[in-house]
Amino acid sequence: MNETDEIKLMFDKIAHRYDFLNHFLSFGQDIIWRKEMADQVVDNNTHLVLDLASGTGDSAIALLKRGVNVIGLDISFEMLKTGANKIKKKYSRQSQLFNKKISFFPVTGSGYQIPMRDSFVDAVTSAFGIRNMHDTEDALREIYRVIRPEGRVVILEFSLPESSIRKPYLFYLKKIIPAMASMLSVKSAYEYLGKSIEEFYKPSEFVRLLDRCGFKNIKAFSLSFGCVYLYVGVK
Ligand SMILES: C[S@@+](CC[C@H](N)C(=O)[O-])C[C@H]1O[C@@H](n2cnc3c(N)ncnc32)[C@H](O)[C@@H]1O
Repeated sequence: MNETDEIKLMFDKIAHRYDFLNHFLSFGQDIIWRKEMADQVVDNNTHLVLDLASGTGDSAIALLKRGVNVIGLDISFEMLKTGANKIKKKYSRQSQLFNKKISFFPVTGSGYQIPMRDSFVDAVTSAFGIRNMHDTEDALREIYRVIRPEGRVVILEFSLPESSIRKPYLFYLKKIIPAMASMLSVKSAYEYLGKSIEEFYKPSEFVRLLDRCGFKNIKAFSLSFGCVYLYVGVK
């Protein structure tokens, strides 16, 4: 089994617990982070957004609320199914999506080979997904390919704060979160979370990588004391 297959299997396994743990372990901050991401991506020229590593659909919901069509791409069928069901339930009562003439299209597939022609979407978002694509440069070049000229990439990703909260944050990440996750039998996935955050690019390195992949006007915003970063770039 290759690395991507292992990651897919891991997310398939935790799909039914993911939303609860996400909101609980981030103290509800994840909802605010995704709103900030949607604010950065949607303007009058944004009609179709690819939400890469869409998972259980919370970023897609933040985007749909702003009236744009969303393609949710993810390698994990179980994560995507949970998200698609949630979106269907949320909007079914008054056929709200239909009334607004916007749609959510869930697609299973890999970020390394996005099943889309060049310049197909106005923007790409990815919340806490890019860290799982260890050939990050390849993934960013693929994202660049599918965005139309002048379109935007907006990426949310965890980071390790440089300030005095680094130590307690690492303790929370590496000890408390796996302990809590073990009560729900998903310990190894949450051990992976801490490890992958530690191994991921520093914000300055990630900005350089976006630049190397062709993006311009790159900005990086620190959220929640630097525990999360929001990156914006233009094609
Ligand atoms: C931490 S979850 C984030 C989900 C969602 N974006 C959110 O904000 O809650 C990471 C997601 O990335 C997906 N993923 C990992 N590697 C991927 C790849 N190579 N291509 C597409 N999706 C991938 C996983 O299946 C998982 O759903």
